[in-house]
Amino acid sequence: MANYWVKKPLSMLLADAEDGEKGLKRTLTAGNLVALGIGAIIGAGLFVRTASAAANNAGPSVTLGFIVAAIGCALAGLCYAEFASRIPIAGSAYTYSYATMGEFVAWIIGWDLVLEYALGAATVGIAWSEYLNKLLEQFFRTSIPYQFCHSPFESIKDPVTQAVTSGIINLPALFIIFLLSVLLIRGTQESALVNNIIVITKVAIVVLFILFGWSFMNPVNHTPYIPEASIYKDSAGVSHNYGGLMGILGAAGVVFFAFIGFDAVSTAAQEAKNPKRDMPIGILGSLAVCTVLYLLFAHVLTGVASVNDFRTQGKEASVAYAIMTYMTGYGWLAKLVTIAILAGFSSVILVMLMGQSRVFFSMSRDGLVPAIFSELHPKYRTPWKSNILFFVFVGLFAAFVPGEVAGDMTSIGTLFAFVLVCIGIIIIRKTNPDDNPPFKTPLVPFVPILGALVCLAMIYGLGMANWIRLIIWMIIGFVIYFVYGVKNSKLQKNKE
Ligand code: ALA
Repeated sequence: MANYWVKKPLSMLLADAEDGEKGLKRTLTAGNLVALGIGAIIGAGLFVRTASAAANNAGPSVTLGFIVAAIGCALAGLCYAEFASRIPIAGSAYTYSYATMGEFVAWIIGWDLVLEYALGAATVGIAWSEYLNKLLEQFFRTSIPYQFCHSPFESIKDPVTQAVTSGIINLPALFIIFLLSVLLIRGTQESALVNNIIVITKVAIVVLFILFGWSFMNPVNHTPYIPEASIYKDSAGVSHNYGGLMGILGAAGVVFFAFIGFDAVSTAAQEAKNPKRDMPIGILGSLAVCTVLYLLFAHVLTGVASVNDFRTQGKEASVAYAIMTYMTGYGWLAKLVTIAILAGFSSVILVMLMGQSRVFFSMSRDGLVPAIFSELHPKYRTPWKSNILFFVFVGLFAAFVPGEVAGDMTSIGTLFAFVLVCIGIIIIRKTNPDDNPPFKTPLVPFVPILGALVCLAMIYGLGMANWIRLIIWMIIGFVIYFVYGVKNSKLQKNKE
């Protein structure tokens, strides 16, 4: 009889990690880890969703929405940091829950993380495709035909002829996922170098925009900072709670996507040189840097352009629009922003794809998914077959699913993982009271409980359609576990 609650002993987890022959290479430093975190964090959330949250939800007080989302992430981040320092091996939240809450919960979380990493990569791939078109327009006055950069579920109506064009396949999104999958197969160290270059570029762009934009802020755009509560109907006819407290909470849910990724640092624990010290630095450091940049960026963006601009003109390319329209003499910055955003999105996708293959690497070593996911390349020592399989899976979503659907599924999957990690800290403190981990989550159980509550509130805010998607995804996962995982689990086999 299978024991669904069997826990993987900590000693066994650590022994797995020390198993050098089969293991991944330890090459990443604390600096690399912070860069990895920032690489995964700053992306479509900041450059696309800030303006949309200002337009639909909160106006200038989108900055307060960033603060609410940051609080939820910081609380969960403190729990992640303790786990990452206790159990410094690949697999992140999946591995932690195997040690604390048993195999079934570990399976749930591992399966759920596919939503965060694989769908996250697909979502940003879709945003990348949009910005590629912006680049082609800005530099070459051309663009990819609508059919070949949109999913079949999207269509557009010509305002003059009323002719409707439907998407067929999102080729640029598929292309970037392919390119980065190949890079990942070549190896973590090479990927880390590319990632560092990209991170420097995108942080530089954010800082330049803040510095140059500061003097172009118009106080009128910031008055009132928190708009009066009302209902705003967007151009698609969807109603939003605009202004007041509800507006700020709505904005928090929207910009939460901008913080996703700091936890991806924890999936690389097995490749860190000194994981016990460096994992908390990587996780909390990247989160802190991004929070400061986000607040300043959102403050300047909403000061330079008005809410009405975001509603009617800027749309996805709101940052470039704000520069072109209000910052005279800075046209070059608008072009640079587009290039940096393309590069920036690439690093987000890279870390997400890497996180995904590392989670399945661990699950495969445990027997819960087939061995193919942990076979390392003889030369590059990367889980290359896993990278190829996930290229196919992520590519299908990137090519055929609308960005908004993939984005919301990413958010709900991530929030659910955060909730389980918060609960996991309370459990491991009870089951292993004598441990003295290098990094301790402060004020347990207060911090994890509050963290779980803030994340649950954001899940609530994502609405019924997304709860149903999460439930369906989980049901598919249960079927796979009971048909395959439980029969092949190494821990279950050891028990027999
Ligand atoms: N935080 C990442 C982004 O905003 C997922 O693109």
